[in-house]
Amino acid sequence: MDFVIEPLTSNFAYDVSIIEAECFSTPFKESDILAYLKESYWHFFVARKGEEILGYISFTLIIDEISICNVAVSKKYRNQKIASNLINALLDFSKKNEVKRIFLEVRESNNPAIYLYEKFGFVRVGISKNHYTLPKENAILMNLEI
Ligand SMILES: CC(C)(COP(=O)(O)OP(=O)(O)OC[C@H]1O[C@@H](n2cnc3c(N)ncnc32)[C@H](O)[C@@H]1OP(=O)(O)O)[C@@H](O)C(=O)NCCC(=O)NCCS
Repeated sequence: MDFVIEPLTSNFAYDVSIIEAECFSTPFKESDILAYLKESYWHFFVARKGEEILGYISFTLIIDEISICNVAVSKKYRNQKIASNLINALLDFSKKNEVKRIFLEVRESNNPAIYLYEKFGFVRVGISKNHYTLPKENAILMNLEI
């Protein structure tokens, strides 16, 4: 499938909020996303086909470290390498910005996401007990040194 990966602009913030609501129990609202877009350390890349947003990745860059907030792909477009393309865009961005390390937390039951991150070389570095709510669950902490 043809799609482009590009920075999110405010006109598609609502579309990202719809995917957030589809994927997460404590989703960002459109107003949250619009507020984050104004902060220079927040970044969102989207996968867009025409006027449709298929998925996105959100992260913060502080000095030389990136923290991935979320990666999500709309259910009907999964398993078409969209998340893999979003991570590749993140890695390109990381090289251009001399990032040294990328880290993230992921629910310990989220096998598709853990598989995705391990495919790109992320390693498990710890567990954060009862990190998540709705439902309560441990987070696996993962890290990629660049
Ligand atoms: C995790 C997620 C982003 C993957 O998106 P995707 O576009 O389907 O991923 P890709 O098509 O790029 O697949 C990446 C790899 O994961 C594998 N994969 C995808 N879904 C899988 C599943 N349900 N179980 C096992 N492996 C899976 C693919 O086979 C692929 O591996 P390969 O390259 O060796 O073939 C998507 O499932 C999602 O949006 N989940 C809900 C949101 C979420 O939990 N995000 C993570 C928050 S930390």
